Amino acid sequence: MTSLATPLELLRSTLAGGSGLRPLDATAYARAHRTYEAHSDQRALLADRLGTVLDDALPGTEPRSVLSIGPGDGSLDAPLAAGLAPGRGRLRWVAAEPDGAVGARCRDRLQRALGHAGEAVLHEGTFDSLADTVGDEPFDVVLAVHSLYYVPDLAEALDAARDRLLPGGILVLALAPLAELNQLTEAVGPGSHRWWSDQLPAALAAAGLAGTTTRLAGRLDVTDCLDRDSATGREVLDFLVGADCSGLDADTHAVLLDALVAVSSRDGDRLVAPHPVDLVVAS
Ligand SMILES: C[S@@+](CC[C@H](N)C(=O)[O-])C[C@H]1O[C@@H](n2cnc3c(N)ncnc32)[C@H](O)[C@@H]1O
Repeated sequence: MTSLATPLELLRSTLAGGSGLRPLDATAYARAHRTYEAHSDQRALLADRLGTVLDDALPGTEPRSVLSIGPGDGSLDAPLAAGLAPGRGRLRWVAAEPDGAVGARCRDRLQRALGHAGEAVLHEGTFDSLADTVGDEPFDVVLAVHSLYYVPDLAEALDAARDRLLPGGILVLALAPLAELNQLTEAVGPGSHRWWSDQLPAALAAAGLAGTTTRLAGRLDVTDCLDRDSATGREVLDFLVGADCSGLDADTHAVLLDALVAVSSRDGDRLVAPHPVDLVVAS
């Protein structure tokens, strides 16, 4: 008996031997990321959970500090800073963000959110060059939301993050698992993400860290992706696969959409895909 190829297998075999897609440049990446998040309820779930975690982690009236690795434009960090319960100590929030344009926006948003009760600092660079801006400064909280995919070496990044913790400090990580949706990412843009949350338990243990993991069951609305004329649909698809999908020929694009539909389900007139994220709190 012959078995039929699954849509994901068909996508892999269609792409095999191709030259690969062009990566998104910094501007296209930032725009596609905004559009992608706007199509998902994962952001609200993360903001809610992270608000509680940070509120608990930064008690009292002593000065406190947060290091955020890859905060992007601060669309998550700034509301988190603003939402912290009043009456706590002065807050220093350091953002390590290699994209200078979104990093500056993040710093300005953070400073507005903190007001006179805190200080926002931008390290315009990757996490591994952070010492250029803050030396060996330690922090109460090291936060990395959807950014560890891109670090060159996960074990080294976790060692460095651990070394940045003050006594009693916590590491707060959010990373997607290599589940249905991100298998499409791996198939189309295999170089776009180096790590997934599946690799965190072993890397955390190797760094001598122990933590709790909560999976947040977000959902991504992919309806617009089926309309090739939709600019937002193209951006959602580009961010999903971590590359510029305009380089796909019509047949391969159709195979990609078939694979996307196969991992999605109907919700009224919308097509939604599971969009989980693992939130890890470790020390
Ligand atoms: C998917 S975005 C997430 C942004 C933000 N945390 C959020 O959830 O809205 C990933 C961010 O990580 C940044 N990034 C990539 N490599 C990095 C590195 N080695 N160190 C620090 N940030 C990095 C990117 O520039 C980008 O802003």
